[in-house]
Amino acid sequence: MQSAPHVEFRGVSKTYDGRTMVVRDLDLRVQEGEFFTLLGPSGSGKTTCLMMLAGFEAPSSGEIRLSGRSVQHLPPRKRGIGVVFQNYALFPHMTVRRNLAFPLEVRGISAASRRQRIRQALEVVRLDGFEDRRPAELSGGQQQRVAIARALVFNPSLVLMDEPLGALDRRLREEMQFEIRRMQQDLGVTVVYVTHDQQEAMAMSSRVAVFHRGHIQQVAAPETLYEEPEREFVASFIGDNNMLRGHVRKAERDFCDVETPGGTVRAFPVHGCRPGDRSVLAIRPERVSLTKPGVYTNEFEAVVEDILFIGDHLRLRVNLCGNPNFIVKIQNTVGHSAVLEGDRVRIGWSVMDCRALPDEEGGSGPTPVNQQGTENRSRSAVDAGKPKTGRTNDSVLAQSHREDGV
Ligand SMILES: Nc1ncnc2c1ncn2[C@@H]1O[C@H](COP(=O)(O)OP(=O)(O)OP(=O)(O)O)[C@@H](O)[C@H]1O
Ligand SMILES: [Mg+2]
Repeated sequence: MQSAPHVEFRGVSKTYDGRTMVVRDLDLRVQEGEFFTLLGPSGSGKTTCLMMLAGFEAPSSGEIRLSGRSVQHLPPRKRGIGVVFQNYALFPHMTVRRNLAFPLEVRGISAASRRQRIRQALEVVRLDGFEDRRPAELSGGQQQRVAIARALVFNPSLVLMDEPLGALDRRLREEMQFEIRRMQQDLGVTVVYVTHDQQEAMAMSSRVAVFHRGHIQQVAAPETLYEEPEREFVASFIGDNNMLRGHVRKAERDFCDVETPGGTVRAFPVHGCRPGDRSVLAIRPERVSLTKPGVYTNEFEAVVEDILFIGDHLRLRVNLCGNPNFIVKIQNTVGHSAVLEGDRVRIGWSVMDCRALPDEEGGSGPTPVNQQGTENRSRSAVDAGKPKTGRTNDSVLAQSHREDGV
C-alpha cells in the first residue's frame, strides 16, 4: 500500500470575511521529498494556503493532513514545519546565532545541542563564521540564507517557503534558486514553495500547482505544464501562447475544426468538445513556421506587422484569425533576414501543436466582481518588483515569533 502523502488538502476552502472565498475547495497531495510549488498571480491564495498548512490560519471548511493525520487541532509549533515567510523578517536586534537559537529554545532543546544544530544549519546555507553579525550587517542574499537556516535549524521534515527570493536582484535570485534546490536534495526534506514567477517555478520544482482565483487549475511536472496545458489560464500563464477564439464546427475524437474570425483551424481537442462549443486554441510561437503551400493542415496568409529582433530569434507579429498580436518565433538562421515588415507570408502549424481548450476567459460566463478584484489587488506591487509586506504575514509573524519560534 502506498504511504499517506506528506501533505494533503481535502476540500479546503477559506474565507476571511465570510463572503469572498479566497481558496475554494482545494484538493492537493504532496509526496515525501517533493519540491512542490504553488504558482499563481498576486492575490490568488498562495500565502493563504501556506498559512493554513503552517497553522497560522484555520480552513473555513475541509481538512489538512500531515502524513495521514489531521492537523486541525495541532498548533504551529507542534506541526514540525519550518517556514520562510514572504517578508523573511529576521529579528534585527539579534545576532545570526540568536536568531537561529530562538526556534530551538522554544522547543526546549539543550544548549549543547543548540550550538551543534546552529553550526550545522549555517554550514548548509554556507554562512559559517557569520554567527555574530546582525541582519543589518549582511547582504540581502545572506539575510535570506539566515532565514532559510532558521527554518531548517530544528530539522523539520517539511519546509514552507513563501516567495523567499522576491526581494533579491536577478543574479542573486538565480544563484539562490540553485542553492535552495541543492539544500532540499541534500537534506531530503519536502518543500512547499510559493512564487508568482513561472520561470522560478519551472526551474526548481518537481511538480507545480497553478493557482487562479483560489482554484487549482492544473498540477503537473514543469514539462507537462508547458507541453500539455489543460486550461486556458495555464496556457496563457506558462510561457507564451497565441490564443485564438472561435466556435467548434466539427468534433471528432482526435481533432476538431474551430471557426475563428479568420477561417477554420483544425486542433487537438484536449477535453473533447461538441459542435457549437466556444473554444480557445493555444499555439506556441515556436511551433508556428513560415511555410510553402501544402505543408501543414493549418495554413494562413498574413502581413508581417512588426519584427522584433531578439538576437538568437526573431518575433514576427501578424494579425491572424482574430488575434491582432499573433506571434511567430523564427530562429535567426540563414535566410530569415529576407523577411521584412509589410511582407505577405504564409504561416502554418500542425494539428497536434494546436490545443483546443474550453473558452473560460472570453466571456463564456460571468466572473463575480469581487473575485476578479481580489486577484488584481496587489498586482502593481509585484509588477514593480517591490518587496511586499503582506498583512497576513505581518500579523502572523509577530505571533509566530512570540509563540512558536518558526
Ligand atoms: N488576513 C486577511 N484578511 C482578509 N483578507 C485577506 C487576508 N489575507 C489575505 N487576504 C485576501 O485573500 C486573498 C488571497 O491572498 P493571499 O495572500 O493568499 O494571495 P497570494 O497568492 O499569496 O498573493 P501575493 O502573490 O500577492 O502574495 C487576497 O484577496 C487577500 O486580500
Ligand atoms: Mg503571498
